[in-house]
Amino acid sequence: MDLKAYLQDRRGLVNRALEAYLPQGRGPAFRVVEAMRYSLFAGGKRLRPILCLAGAEAVGGDTGEALPVACALEMIHTYSLIHDDLPAMDDDDLRRGHPTCHRQFDEATAILAGDGLLTEAFRLMADAAPKFEGREALLLEVIQLIAQAAGYQGMVGGQMLDLEAEGRQVTLKELETIHRLKTGALLTAAVRAGGLVGGGSRAEVTALTAFGEKFGLVFQITDDLLDVEGEAAEMGKSPGMDVKKGKATYPALLGVDKAREWARRLMDEAINGLAPLGERAEPLREIGRYLLTRRS
Ligand code: IPE
Ligand code: IPE
Ligand code: MG
Ligand code: MG
Ligand code: MG
Repeated sequence: MDLKAYLQDRRGLVNRALEAYLPQGRGPAFRVVEAMRYSLFAGGKRLRPILCLAGAEAVGGDTGEALPVACALEMIHTYSLIHDDLPAMDDDDLRRGHPTCHRQFDEATAILAGDGLLTEAFRLMADAAPKFEGREALLLEVIQLIAQAAGYQGMVGGQMLDLEAEGRQVTLKELETIHRLKTGALLTAAVRAGGLVGGGSRAEVTALTAFGEKFGLVFQITDDLLDVEGEAAEMGKSPGMDVKKGKATYPALLGVDKAREWARRLMDEAINGLAPLGERAEPLREIGRYLLTRRS
């Protein structure tokens, strides 16, 4: 399959839907909507929504039904980036090739833009209920799953651990927990939600979830590698920040070569686990392989 064309097509689908879900702001709160849109439409790979759509596709489901959930995932992800970049957290100036939200606007506006995107994501999913007539319980399960993955038991918890680990030696086990939570949880939720909305069987959804967990870990390992080896012009964010901040990363703990080797092994396992899903999971396999060579 032509992965580049596939990703481009899906990105277009997601971007058009996001534009419809979050139109230009009006009224007194215009500034916060402007900041939300600034970060949401600054670029980005749209990986979480694409994984959600690919998860639905992998079980023979309708990607149209998964679109609101996919867009909600991107809003939550973008909120996490805005807050991750704040001076109190990673203190970054460049994101998606543009000044970070708090640099472009101000800190208070960036905090509110993140809050606005997080809240909007859940409104958007709840608003999709009419599309799920007779299957409301399924939508509710997806909303619960995403709330859990984004919250203190998932991403928020992982971000806390990430900050606590700054400047400290961590064990490999601790590092894996940080990565599973701060990054893996939402990526796993994306594929799993896609499988659920797509009407996958429990066995299919379990296979997708196992893929998502390994994929999430590999994704953060390769993010850590890019921080060491990547180019700002390609990544749209500044490399070298992890060492500066004393972040717990795979390259810091294992070295670049071992970290890369570990990512490769994990991705092999992840892809092997998709065997029961057959041909329809090919986009997921291709996206998995692409992680190992990505430059952004
Ligand atoms: C960056 O995520 C933050 C991490 C979880 C490592 P992405 O690399 O998916 O960022 P965008 O969405 O493409 O900007
Ligand atoms: C961020 O991890 C994970 C999030 C939940 C946003 P990083 O701090 O490594 O992400 P980047 O490198 O700033 O994109
Ligand atoms: Mg961070
Ligand atoms: Mg960061
Ligand atoms: Mg990083």
